[in-house]
Amino acid sequence: PTLTPFVDPLPIPPWIDISTGRLVTIGAYKITQVLHKDLPATTLYAYGTSAATATYPGPTLLAKRNVPSYIRYENHITDSETFLITDKTLAWANPANGGVPIVPHLHGAEAESASDGHPDAWFTASGEHGPKFVAQKYTYPNRQPSTLLWYHDHTVGITRNNVLAGLTGLYIIHSPYDDPANLPRGTNEVPLVIQDKRFWANGSISFPNVGVSPLLHPYWCQGYSGDVVLVNGKIWPYLEVYPEKYRFRILNGANSRFFTLTLSDAALQWIQIGTDGGFLPSPIYLSQLTLAPANRADVIIDFSSLAIGSVVYMNNSAPIPFPDGDSRFSPPAVASSVMAFKIISRPRGSAAQNYKIPTNMTAVPKATYNLATDGYRSFIFNEEFDSAGNRIKSLINSVGYTDPLTETPKLGTVEIWDLINFTPDAHPIHIHLISFLVVHQQAFDQTAYTANECSLEVEFSQPGSCFTQAPQEPDATQVDWKDTVIVYPSVVLRLWTKWTPRDGGSFPFDATSGPGYVWHCHVLEHEDNEMMRPLVVRS
Ligand code: C2O
Ligand code: CU
Repeated sequence: PTLTPFVDPLPIPPWIDISTGRLVTIGAYKITQVLHKDLPATTLYAYGTSAATATYPGPTLLAKRNVPSYIRYENHITDSETFLITDKTLAWANPANGGVPIVPHLHGAEAESASDGHPDAWFTASGEHGPKFVAQKYTYPNRQPSTLLWYHDHTVGITRNNVLAGLTGLYIIHSPYDDPANLPRGTNEVPLVIQDKRFWANGSISFPNVGVSPLLHPYWCQGYSGDVVLVNGKIWPYLEVYPEKYRFRILNGANSRFFTLTLSDAALQWIQIGTDGGFLPSPIYLSQLTLAPANRADVIIDFSSLAIGSVVYMNNSAPIPFPDGDSRFSPPAVASSVMAFKIISRPRGSAAQNYKIPTNMTAVPKATYNLATDGYRSFIFNEEFDSAGNRIKSLINSVGYTDPLTETPKLGTVEIWDLINFTPDAHPIHIHLISFLVVHQQAFDQTAYTANECSLEVEFSQPGSCFTQAPQEPDATQVDWKDTVIVYPSVVLRLWTKWTPRDGGSFPFDATSGPGYVWHCHVLEHEDNEMMRPLVVRS
């Protein structure tokens, strides 16, 4: 269908205060919702406190730092199978009694593994559950600094189906200790959940539903991407803004699409004040903002120099696959519009607030390490074909989710992880339980390495080294605590991972017990096809 952009106002998802100490119930429901004024209503799966209030995206859950919250998740989806077809040739939940398995994961949370939403901790509406299921009641301690997290489905093998179907929502940790004074708030603080989808004319989501061959992956593709962009559940919406400072809490919630966001008015910049883990040390002024799937950005846009009546467009220039594109992905390789801002005047009598751009937000330590004393692991990302010959998939050290556990860091220790990308695509790598720091990244010559002409064991500038540059400091937007980091092709990215809460001390739970955690690529198609590894913290 051809849809006119910027005709629907931006919706703001409902919010729920989860800092009251009381148990909150969040269910997953099958709903229909109008995603564009000229598109028939779309069938979705969505989170909410009841069938009548469930929305896509789900309610924004507002937590307070150091105040635990308790959520009971329920599955009210009674379909016998997901309406976005399951590829049963993948390792997937496969409930014996049918139904749509779900398991919610709070992305970026420091939580006990029983409350982490392990891919095998799924449960269906009829009460069947996966081998790692513990309980439907989750506890979130919220001991970590103020930031934007998000909750989304994480069921083994069908995460991409369930997230695309709508099982996504935001989770904000507020903290009077961390939040700088005079940040834009109220109507001037706006969450933006950005996702892409593709639709049929009848309003239903277009998802690969024609098998290539029953012997191959019949429905799985290497990366789902849509040709329209939704923000907070509307296709190409607009937001009316006053000529003032606004704070946007942005999530890239796409299955596989990276976004490189730009603003059409050259007078405007992204003033980034935070990333996944919370505030940056000081603001960064950017003309473009790149977000991998699962990345968040906390940004201020100052519209105050703009004339009433002017319109600013938020555009996207990231190719697919990221970062180099591929002419086979057309049309359109780029979903180039995202949303619009229309500048309107403040109603008479309502005074503009004195919102400020903070200067010094927080101290972020610099990762220091000593490979001789710290634990060390290295991981090669590779694309491999399986025995059927043409079923390509991305793997980590040639093993997948269902292979034996190897990542067992000891509680309290520091490990250096080298992520070595031999594929042509960037992979957003996410580790559960902890936030980590980037030490450096370093490009290498893939062709020469593959031809055995050099080694990654040899330092740059020494004879026989495969590195083509000295180690590079993380760029300004990757210096903060991260939970999801972009590993570019032909690059070794070195991570500093400490298996404690980021501010030291110990977790307010036993991280070594329960079903354990995972780490994985957040391109959901890669994750669902084994670019995911189990992770268990040892005592
Ligand atoms: Cu956002 Cu393991 O997930
Ligand atoms: Cu990947």
